[in-house]
Amino acid sequence: MNKLVIDGGVPIRGEITIQGAKNAVLPILAASIMADGESVIHNCPRLRDVEKTCIILEDLGCDVRREQDTLYINPENINNCKIDEKLMREMRSSIIFLGAILAVWNKAEVGMPGGCPIGLRPIDLHIKALRKMGVQITEEFGYLKCESDKISGTQIHLDFPSVGATENIMLTAVKADGATVITNAAREPEIIDLAKFLNLMGAKINGAGSSMIVIEGVKKLNPVEYTIMPDRIVAQTYLISALITGGEIVLKDAIASHIHSGLALLSEMGAKINTYDNTIHLKSNGKIKNVHIIKTMPYPGFATDIQSPFMALASVADGTSVFVENMFENRFRHVDELVRMGADIKVEGRSAVVRGVKRFSGANVEAYELRGGAALVLAALNAEGKTTVSGVDFIDRGYQCIEGNLSKCGAKIKRIHI
Ligand code: UD1
Repeated sequence: MNKLVIDGGVPIRGEITIQGAKNAVLPILAASIMADGESVIHNCPRLRDVEKTCIILEDLGCDVRREQDTLYINPENINNCKIDEKLMREMRSSIIFLGAILAVWNKAEVGMPGGCPIGLRPIDLHIKALRKMGVQITEEFGYLKCESDKISGTQIHLDFPSVGATENIMLTAVKADGATVITNAAREPEIIDLAKFLNLMGAKINGAGSSMIVIEGVKKLNPVEYTIMPDRIVAQTYLISALITGGEIVLKDAIASHIHSGLALLSEMGAKINTYDNTIHLKSNGKIKNVHIIKTMPYPGFATDIQSPFMALASVADGTSVFVENMFENRFRHVDELVRMGADIKVEGRSAVVRGVKRFSGANVEAYELRGGAALVLAALNAEGKTTVSGVDFIDRGYQCIEGNLSKCGAKIKRIHI
């Protein structure tokens, strides 16, 4: 078991290059199985979820090779259209393979997905859309069995702009017969990255990044070379690390236009921010101001994935802030741990009222999910005394060597194996 041990109180000062985006690399790796040869994908972060995705690719019969941050995926010998229940359970985003496998085989069999315990996370929108495209779907013994004589393009209106459902429909539609139109599509930058990758392969996708996406089916997709976009959640986490410790940070390979809502909030909370090229510079003025109300929303609204890191920041702000979590019903699991470290937070349903305290105090705490785990690390950087964070496996799902990046910027943080 891994733990992070952090001696708080050291201002973060330095430069961090932002890793490739977890939420972009996963659907792109799934999409690579549709090519007629080996794709080369750069800037793939070394994360647990990426490793698990590679295991799924190998299980399907792909040849997978990593050289540093580049993955080579060759699906020429793909021989399987089934993903084991155990692999699916370990990572919810593995549901993204459903669309890609269907596009290759016209059939697929996948275990019901799992993932971080942040709520119910149903897949009804995925299933409804695939059925509308002509896929017969049955559920038996924890597996979804999907089959189709012909997958056809159609009009799909999503009741909610789900990221995963939008991606799954795009993957299924690229080789479908005719055109698919998705309305109320998710608009996240990762959707644009997937569309760019697919279009480079020869797909015909228009409108990604807007709420209407049009996909004309094509017969063949070619292998390509592609570089994954930077991770916008990781970027915001490191910006918060500087503000919560009264420091100063420069992020390289960070795209400011992907994180407008987060940057606006950081400025409101007292950070001085400059952006140029793919660089973001944040400097603290030694104070943290409260925010009145933060509501999580689909992109370009405030991202649910960065709610808990911002809550750690608001916990040591001057005044009271209110958070409303609209996306997942169980995304306040970090609250009890922050309270254990001295925060004053009251949860009422989907809202949390955070009254700022002077500073966190070190404690033994546990991460129960990925972003909540990052919030605990941020609190520990601010805290007086030593904090031990367990449940680090969750943090490793999304942050590549978090302790290495932070210690390079002066943090007293180390990983222990016990
Ligand atoms: C993706 C991200 C995740 C992020 C989330 C919201 C990946 C790998 N993960 O997750 O980090 O927190 O977007 O920005 O990209 N819903 C349904 N039915 C469905 C699908 C979703 O009700 O069929 C609901 C979910 O329960 C949730 C909301 O829609 O309340 C958003 O889910 P969705 O956008 O699908 O998130 P994910 O794709 O799972």
